[in-house]
Amino acid sequence: MSLSGTETIGNATLRAAMQEVARDMDAALDLLLPLSGDPRRRLFEAMRHAAIGGGKRLRPLLVKATGRLFHLDPESLTRVGVAVECIHVYSLVHDDLPAMDDDDLRRGKPTVHRAFDEATAILAGDALHDLAYEIAADERTHADPFVRCELVRLLARASGPHGMAGGQMMDIAAEKQAFDLATVTRLQQLKTGALIGFCVEAAAVMAHVPPEGRTGLHGYARDIGLAFQIADDLLDVEGDAGLAGKALGKDAEAGKQTFVSLLGREKARQQAHLLVDQAKAHLHGYDESADLLRAIADYIIERDR
Ligand code: IPE
Ligand code: IPE
Ligand code: MG
Ligand code: MG
Ligand code: MG
Repeated sequence: MSLSGTETIGNATLRAAMQEVARDMDAALDLLLPLSGDPRRRLFEAMRHAAIGGGKRLRPLLVKATGRLFHLDPESLTRVGVAVECIHVYSLVHDDLPAMDDDDLRRGKPTVHRAFDEATAILAGDALHDLAYEIAADERTHADPFVRCELVRLLARASGPHGMAGGQMMDIAAEKQAFDLATVTRLQQLKTGALIGFCVEAAAVMAHVPPEGRTGLHGYARDIGLAFQIADDLLDVEGDAGLAGKALGKDAEAGKQTFVSLLGREKARQQAHLLVDQAKAHLHGYDESADLLRAIADYIIERDR
């Protein structure tokens, strides 16, 4: 699926940044998750299976791209990127469980409950969730304890009932209840948007930018978060499962209401474009240090996986 006419994926800066983040994530997670020699080995294997070698790494990329605005330390940004990616991967492991979407394939590999078993998948998700906070709270992530505390608080807020978990609950309800567009928008903001918002806000917090200085970044994150989920819903309808590395057509099969089911494909696509233009407009106050954020906004609706 290419929703956009521009050649953002060919954007060399974006491509290089994505490759670097992918490398950094795999290297950091490899160090964080050594295989134990005792009966916990299976848990570490499952965590590694889920977290290493795959995914677009969009969330850590956003942390890194926002960090460029403030010239933050790359090592600290990588650590925050790993923390948010651990939350994201945990949410995918649990999302794929039989009790939820019951999926067999994720990132082109068998899902964790398929490669291992359900109990191991639940524990691997739990443990990735815990690892995220351990990393965020660690001194090596930021020298200022107030910043670390704020990172932990914001990550918890974005992941819990006022964020991803709340959105997932509404998403399940969307299979049975008729939701209007405003409710689906709220659902998507919680399910996907909150964690994306954390990535952008985290870098501002690390740079000690006060809340009143984060308005443009909030607007950017809100708009790309919604555009991202519209693209996910469009890919579910018209994407290539081989490229996506996961089963598609699941939303319609479950009778789930999404932007696409409510608006139709064309209107959903137009809305996604509008949101990306709006997102970039929110960055008007930033110079070329925000070019990576601009390229990410385009990529979000242009992607095919
Ligand atoms: C998929 O997220 C789940 C949603 C929140 C829609 P991504 O599309 O970012 O998945 P990966 O990380 O690339 O596998
Ligand atoms: C899951 O949404 C979003 C999460 C918070 C994990 P989906 O169920 O639409 O994600 P995919 O399509 O399986 O990746
Ligand atoms: Mg789901
Ligand atoms: Mg799913
Ligand atoms: Mg989906």
